[in-house]
Parts: sequence; structure tokens; C-alpha cells
Amino acid sequence: MLSCTSLTVSYGRRTALEDFHLSMRPGEVRALIGPNGSGKSTALQAMAGLIRPIGGQITINGNSITAMSRRQIAKELAFLPQQPSAPDEMTVAQLIRQGRFAHVGLFGRYDQRDEDAIQWALVNTGLSDFANRPLRELSGGERQRAWIAAALAQEAGILLLDEPTTFLDIGYQVEVIDLVHRLSRERAVAVVMAIHDLNQAMAVCDRISLLEQGKLVFDGNPTDLARSGLVEQVFRVKGRFVPIAHNAPPHFDVELVRRSVLTA
Ligand SMILES: Nc1ncnc2c1ncn2[C@@H]1O[C@H](COP(=O)(O)OP(=O)(O)O)[C@@H](O)[C@H]1O
Ligand SMILES: [Mg+2]
Repeated sequence: MLSCTSLTVSYGRRTALEDFHLSMRPGEVRALIGPNGSGKSTALQAMAGLIRPIGGQITINGNSITAMSRRQIAKELAFLPQQPSAPDEMTVAQLIRQGRFAHVGLFGRYDQRDEDAIQWALVNTGLSDFANRPLRELSGGERQRAWIAAALAQEAGILLLDEPTTFLDIGYQVEVIDLVHRLSRERAVAVVMAIHDLNQAMAVCDRISLLEQGKLVFDGNPTDLARSGLVEQVFRVKGRFVPIAHNAPPHFDVELVRRSVLTA
């Protein structure tokens, strides 16, 4: 349903993403991992049609996104950027309503289906009591959940999330990961998310793409990533993958103290 082939993106003379490939099926969850500056946000923004690649192709259900209008893309794909912005006075409900723009008719009339989607998004992000609060009165975590709700209300089959759990306490991190999992299994939503927590990625994702300096160095399932030895190499850390349960991918246990410190 979503596919990228030979995708290359540059900012001026600097190439941020080179020859990137990705292919998503309905209900698949994919993590985009890699060090800071490796091109994760660039890849997501290109897939959302927000930056124009200098090479390669992005298609949704076989149609090139360059031939699709903003509204057509929004019906198929919802994108939550890493640092979204909205006017401070806007309320949670208003933000979520904006997520419905692709569905709302010519005269901006919201029907029952729109209201249902908005309610569903509020409930599933734990924001029912926050609907009429302005965004400026929310904590970072509450605001992040409001943005997730706006993306959910869009009811798109493809969901792109750029570090959706950043700013959230560990309880809400688990809830977001859980929600992503449910959306994929119950609504066959295809999810691509940039995420820093490797173990959350390992636990919930069907596939993982690992980027290093704009290049795709791994595309496969979590178990194969653990076997590849690439995590230590790309992130320049010491650690090991520890089995936690039969049928579950292993857990990466990073050494938090560098050897040089211990031997000093
Ligand atoms: N708007 C921009 N203009 C110029 N360079 C950019 C811009 N956005 C990102 N970059 C550069 O592109 C590279 C990839 O960035 P990004 O996709 O944001 O990485 P990540 O999301 O993995 O941290 C980095 O070197 C970054 O400095
Ligand atoms: Mg980023």
C-alpha cells in the first residue's frame, strides 16, 4: 500500500537520505531507527509528501504521491511530525477536528461520522476530559497525546509517527505503543514510526529499518536485527541482546558505563 523505491533527499548540497527503500502491507508496524541525524524525519516527511525527493518514487496503492492532492494524500495517510505546531489558543477538540479536514464536505459541515471519529480519538488517547482545554494549558505529554488524537481522527490506512513517545512518561509510552499495536491488528493500519527506544521497537514492530548517515543498513524483523550485530556498530555502544521469553524478540541490554570509565 505504501512503497518507496530508490528515494534520495537532499537539503541543498547535503544528501540526507540516499537510495532508501520501504514497502508496507496493511496492518504492518515498522520502526525507523538510527542515530540522531541519520535521516528518519527526512524519510517520514518525504513519505508524507512534505518534501520533494531528488530521486526515486513514493507510491500509495500504486499511485505516485506527486500526482495526488494534499486532500487525497490525507485520506490515505496521517503524519505526526516530530515537532508539530498549532496556535496556543486552539483547544484539543479543535485540533482533532482539523484532522478530519480531508473528510469534511465542501461547506465544512461535520456529520455524525466525523463526530464519531473525533470521540473515538479522544477516548483512545485518554483525552475525553480535555476536549475544551486550550493547548497552551497542557503538559508536554498531554499535548503530544492531542496530536496523536488528531492523527487518529484522520482515519487513514497509513500512519506515520515521528517519535510519538518522546515527552511521554513511561505509562503513556506503553499506552501509545499499545494503541499502535491495536490499530494495526484491529483496523489493519500500516504504521511507520521513528522511535528511539530500541526495545519498544523490538517489542511491537513486525519490521525494522535501520538508518546510518542517510543510508539504509538493515531492513528485516527484530530477531534478525538482534543477530546482525548492527545495533552496537551503528550506535557505537556496547551491549547485548538478552532472551526474555519464548516467541518474543530479545531485549537489548546496553552497557551504560563505558569501559574507559570503569578502568580509569
Ligand atoms: N531543513 C533542513 N535543512 C537542512 N538540513 C537538514 C534539514 N532537516 C534535516 N537536515 C539534515 O539532514 C540530516 C537528517 O536529518 P533528520 O532527517 O532530521 O534525522 P533524524 O530524524 O534521523 O534525526 C541531518 O544531517 C540534518 O542536519
Ligand atoms: Mg528526527
